[in-house]
Amino acid sequence: MKMFDLSGKLAVVTGANRGLGLGMAKGLAEAGADIVCISRSGKDEKAREIIEGLGRRFHSIQLDVTELDKIFPTIEQIVRDCGRLDIMVNNAGIISRHPAEEFPLEEWHLVTTVLMDAVFYFCQAAGRQMLKQGKGKIINTASVLSFQGGILCAPYAAAKAAISNLTRALANEWASKGINVNCIAPGYFDTDLIENLKANPERSRALLARIPAGRWGTIDELAGAVVYLASDASNYVHGHTLAVDGGWLSR
Ligand SMILES: NC(=O)c1ccc[n+]([C@@H]2O[C@H](COP(=O)([O-])OP(=O)(O)OC[C@H]3O[C@@H](n4cnc5c(N)ncnc54)[C@H](OP(=O)(O)O)[C@@H]3O)[C@@H](O)[C@H]2O)c1
Repeated sequence: MKMFDLSGKLAVVTGANRGLGLGMAKGLAEAGADIVCISRSGKDEKAREIIEGLGRRFHSIQLDVTELDKIFPTIEQIVRDCGRLDIMVNNAGIISRHPAEEFPLEEWHLVTTVLMDAVFYFCQAAGRQMLKQGKGKIINTASVLSFQGGILCAPYAAAKAAISNLTRALANEWASKGINVNCIAPGYFDTDLIENLKANPERSRALLARIPAGRWGTIDELAGAVVYLASDASNYVHGHTLAVDGGWLSR
């Protein structure tokens, strides 16, 4: 299983303090990686406890990723402090729900800035360092709504489809230079992001009935996919969107 070993690697995970980001950071740390957690709130005590409990280093950075001009300096600082950047996981995300005809433009911009613009900047900043190193792994977080339009979340669906194709575009440019760019498309996972859906009994029942696995995913269930895409086991995998969705897209 040596090819999955991440000992000595440094992984930057946006939104590693809770939800899917925490599940992925934990998986990466279990495989040996040290973690840099970037979050909007800086509230990452629980994540620190988990990662340090696994015997790995945990670095905390408070950054609102909509402050796009701070992304390059943040990555440069990480490289100065830690000497390298092996794995970049773009996970931080938000959703906003309104009928399309009423979607406030400022919310369109906020959602697409977090899910698209910031992801591109992180890829660009991390990519520059990885090009220097001649090696690196970038893992973006797509969604089953990279493939489907969803309901009441037009900017989210638009941005998630864009992330899947951005991943392909970057892979085309960087695959021959030792950088793997891929993404994971989660189905419906039990995190704060789907709180509103879960609070609506009718919608919740309908969603669960459509998931072949018959249940929400748990945050630990992204660990296998992220460790695979972060490790040498995926060295010949480029531009791929890996669904982890309880079978949702097969339906
Ligand atoms: N849950 C699902 O079913 C599902 C399905 C498909 C895709 N996804 C995707 O998976 C990713 C994680 O979602 P989740 O379910 O884990 O959501 P979550 O539990 O709501 O967590 C969101 C994370 O993103 C961070 N974040 C949000 N806005 C930010 C900003 N402006 N700057 C910095 N950090 C910010 C949050 O940091 P703070 O805690 O500091 O606010 C938090 O760590 C998202 O990209 C989401 O679209 C989720």
